Amino acid sequence: MALTGKVVIITGASSGIGRATALKAASSGAHLALGDINTNGLQDVLEECNAVKAADASHQIFAFDVSDSTQCNQSIEAVVAHFGKIDHLFNCAGINPTSIATEDVSDETWDKLINTNLRGVFSMTRGCLPHMKSGSSIVNVSSVCGNYPVAHFAVYCAAKYGVVGFSKSVALEVGSKGVRVNIVAPGAIETPTNSAVRGGAAALKHAADESGLKRIGRPDEVANVVLFLFSDQSSYMNGAVLDIDGGLGIWS
Ligand SMILES: NC(=O)c1ccc[n+]([C@@H]2O[C@H](COP(=O)([O-])OP(=O)(O)OC[C@H]3O[C@@H](n4cnc5c(N)ncnc54)[C@H](O)[C@@H]3O)[C@@H](O)[C@H]2O)c1
Repeated sequence: MALTGKVVIITGASSGIGRATALKAASSGAHLALGDINTNGLQDVLEECNAVKAADASHQIFAFDVSDSTQCNQSIEAVVAHFGKIDHLFNCAGINPTSIATEDVSDETWDKLINTNLRGVFSMTRGCLPHMKSGSSIVNVSSVCGNYPVAHFAVYCAAKYGVVGFSKSVALEVGSKGVRVNIVAPGAIETPTNSAVRGGAAALKHAADESGLKRIGRPDEVANVVLFLFSDQSSYMNGAVLDIDGGLGIWS
């Protein structure tokens, strides 16, 4: 799944799934535009990507907040000014859920989760589409929580169901231009902000037991699927939701 010469924007590149995807894309020959709100993390991932990059590839970091559409637009223009094009976009920046009763959710929590996890996907997609040509593709991160309802995760579910509906609608809209839009729906993945990881040993065991594979997933196992969705290997996939959850959804 070579990405030689392709310009790939990855949001949420400083950590977890975004970072793992950046490393794989760097190893596959891409030029990376690494986006995140966490500037220190961006610097670290840039060094890691430079250590594995193709000889003629170059990477740049872009510090911005995906929940702010002005910052998204400015960053996209900066990417185009630097690289001259955009081939692929991975909308991965997001906030993982914390268990909370809906009656206790503040307006601020709603706005933060929705504006980062859903509006950010919209703003980046809207800004990148005019620069994308036939063969380009977008991958958006939903979640098992975008496929199935989860008590106490209602706002996160609203955002992730929204990502699915938005992505499928855009897939229909831009498919005739040869631009594909697909969705990955991870289950429990071992990243610093995953609720089971934060919850400790008992929570991790519970998350593992819920999966058919009896373990939680690794970020690179999501990255593999993202690279597949960028590549021509998935050329007839558009508007698809790929579950990467070890079989969690089988019971639903
Ligand atoms: N880890 C899981 O189990 C899991 C499961 C399903 C879906 N997801 C989704 O995958 C995506 C990545 O999650 P992760 O687990 O790798 O988390 P993570 O916390 O390791 O990484 C998220 C990254 O997004 C960045 N970010 C957060 N808000 C931002 C903003 N407003 N603007 C720019 N960058 C911002 C963070 O700084 C961080 O680097 C999220 O959308 C998350 O909801 C994760």
